Amino acid sequence: MNVINNIRQLRSWSTINKGARCVFVPTMGALHDGHAALIRAAREIAGPSGNVAVSIFVNPLQFGPGEDFTKYPRTLIEDLSLCRDNGADMIFAPKAEDLYPPDRSIVLHETSLSQLHCGASRPGHFEGVCAIVAKLFNLVQCDDAVFGKKDYQQFAIIRRLVRDLDFNVVLHGIETVREPDGLAMSSRNRYLTPEERLEAPSLRTALLAARDAWKNGARDPDVLRRLITQMIQEKAPSSRIDYVAVADAHTLESVSATTELVVIAIAVFFGTTRLIDNIELK
Ligand code: PAJ
Repeated sequence: MNVINNIRQLRSWSTINKGARCVFVPTMGALHDGHAALIRAAREIAGPSGNVAVSIFVNPLQFGPGEDFTKYPRTLIEDLSLCRDNGADMIFAPKAEDLYPPDRSIVLHETSLSQLHCGASRPGHFEGVCAIVAKLFNLVQCDDAVFGKKDYQQFAIIRRLVRDLDFNVVLHGIETVREPDGLAMSSRNRYLTPEERLEAPSLRTALLAARDAWKNGARDPDVLRRLITQMIQEKAPSSRIDYVAVADAHTLESVSATTELVVIAIAVFFGTTRLIDNIELK
């Protein structure tokens, strides 16, 4: 496994590996079994003759003022072994000063999907995500890229980025990997106090209850929203709900007559830790 931390080395790696299919998994490190599932999926897609590239970079641009950029966990040594164990061929772990010139002046502003939900709560977040993903796609020169559906809105926005800017990259969305009690794995789960950790699976419980109600014919978004809100308030009294969105899975806007797939996406604070989860209704 090659570990590369500057652009010059990355370019020569790309030149040497030009003929081979390259499947890319962008991450911010602090890797867990959810990331491992993405790397294994990338391995499958790449096949024995392809390459799996993983980036590890805590992207300062996607953190707002007062968010957890400085305290975001950095566990490079453990991350490298997880990557190796799950079949990665190349790790790109650059430094911020190598990626962002101090007088950087081009921004990528997605004007539709990123205004809603997480974008409304975290202004500038998706601009930062689009900036880094576009740069990484250009640098890594991948054929495919693998993302988790846990970050549902992020995946939808990256689909737009690829479509609207004609990146020659095939995207793959991977189902959310969970703890045995249903909590979606996240690098931020380690911030939870033991009491908050006990309450946190209520996000999943509430989403499953909403899906059951949906299967039994409940179609009114207000009814589904109320059910989820009440259940989380009851099972996680120390939490604060940021949003519960019942949305069209493609536009992320309110469900309409043309909606083919409905997603419920939620964000909930436990103290300053913000957890997200979602469920598709089929
Ligand atoms: P990060 O939070 O490290 O996540 C990297 C990838 O892992 C994302 O595609 C995310 O959706 C996926 N992932 C996280 N938890 C998961 C889980 N429990 N199951 C399945 N997949 C999971 O998302 C980012 O980093 C950044 O915004 C990034 C795209 C790297 C840009 O900086």
